[in-house]
Amino acid sequence: MTTARFPDGFLWGGATAANQIEGAYDEGGKGLSIQDVTPRGIMHDRVAGPTADNLKLEGIDFYHRYAEDIALFAEMGFTVFRFSIAWSRIFPNGDEETPNEEGLAFYDRVLDELEKHGIEPLVTLSHYETPLHLAERYDGWVNRDLIGFYERYARTCFERYGDRVKYWLTFNEINSVLHIPFGSGGINTPRDELSKKDLYQAIHHELVASARVTRVAHEINPDLKVGCMVISMPIYPLTPNPDDVIAVMNADHANLMFSDVHTRGYYPGYAQRFFRENGIVLDITDQDREDLAHTVDFVSFSYYMSICESGDPQVKADGAGNIMGGVPNPTLAASEWGWQIDPKGLRIVLNQFWDRWQKPLFIVENGLGAKDQLVEVDGEMTVEDDYRIAYLNDHLVQVAEAIEDGVELWGYTTWGPIDLVSASTAQLSKRYGFIYVDRNDDGTGSLTRYKKRSFDWYAEVIRTNGASLEAREALKV
Ligand code: BG6
Repeated sequence: MTTARFPDGFLWGGATAANQIEGAYDEGGKGLSIQDVTPRGIMHDRVAGPTADNLKLEGIDFYHRYAEDIALFAEMGFTVFRFSIAWSRIFPNGDEETPNEEGLAFYDRVLDELEKHGIEPLVTLSHYETPLHLAERYDGWVNRDLIGFYERYARTCFERYGDRVKYWLTFNEINSVLHIPFGSGGINTPRDELSKKDLYQAIHHELVASARVTRVAHEINPDLKVGCMVISMPIYPLTPNPDDVIAVMNADHANLMFSDVHTRGYYPGYAQRFFRENGIVLDITDQDREDLAHTVDFVSFSYYMSICESGDPQVKADGAGNIMGGVPNPTLAASEWGWQIDPKGLRIVLNQFWDRWQKPLFIVENGLGAKDQLVEVDGEMTVEDDYRIAYLNDHLVQVAEAIEDGVELWGYTTWGPIDLVSASTAQLSKRYGFIYVDRNDDGTGSLTRYKKRSFDWYAEVIRTNGASLEAREALKV
């Protein structure tokens, strides 16, 4: 047992995204999104149109089974559920004047269900699901017109759901656009043809849009809390060589610029230098500057792994090991997908973010993607996922440490409380859930839900507000 102290009212739950759970890709008047043409996942090239091998087209059928799934979350004691609204359900092409009522009504029903169980919604407006038409016709966020389309979409959501949804996130992992321009920014220009200038202009448009809708939300209802959402990634120097430390500083700057702008309202000096030295002259209007000044209420982030950096180009080239680049850490074990497991990194990042911005924080993704084995125990089908329990336990112990350090943290949602389609690989076999979904990578399966061992474990963590967590030495290599 640990002395873990989580504040009263701490929000416990799980997080999902529309494109990874809903399915029903062409029902209810929904238009296509960029997910409908990336059957191998967002790290891979797009195809022309929807194909039968794309597991996201059916997802885990949350579109029809949301009531059953939310009841299971309630059984675990969730007090918050993070989900995203599919932009292309509300504005099928993205650039229409009026929204699709059938799409709006679907999320009304989801919210009814959450309300019934006393679960607070946490809504992401854009989670890697830009309407495909905006990618193809406008080249996504490279085009300034996207700001207006997104504002109309966000305003529609705030007006429709603003009295039932208090917590909003503008863009999922906004800093990922650096690595996945199509998946994250709907930018149709192939990555190797995209200029730095266009990439940073797209980033600028997203930052302006995020700030503008933060203002709009507050105008509609001053009680709404709007947060940015970034990939957090503690970066360690591979050695004490100052060149490695400078490499860490530069990599941090590239990632943290997004939340620096969201929390401060302007581009920091290191970003100005980067633009200058790379010949990037952004088109920034007076209105943009005014918009950017509307800073977020809180900072939310995903946490899966840490990385190392090196100032030695040779080491860097040889050391590619983690999905987001960097150099593998020789002291850490990794998941089956090569993501290095580092619970203490979560405490480090919580402290770093709190010290840097002094804004409340929200961990909106954390978890272990693993291959699960469905087995029969006492006549019930289940998964004995002690590895997942260990992973989450060790991370939450570090969260408790960070709270002890004085970090203000509003809540914690594990990624994929129910198995869903992976974003990076589009597999179902990369499972994160407390709830097993019978669907396989080849699309077969009954979609039946089964509780894993971690289901009861997480329910106990929530019931005791973290007191049941166990302080123990984390996995070593
Ligand atoms: C985050 C995304 O990058 O990580 C999620 O916001 C994603 O959409 C999650 O699913 C886990 O990644 P993956 O590739 O294992 O699904």
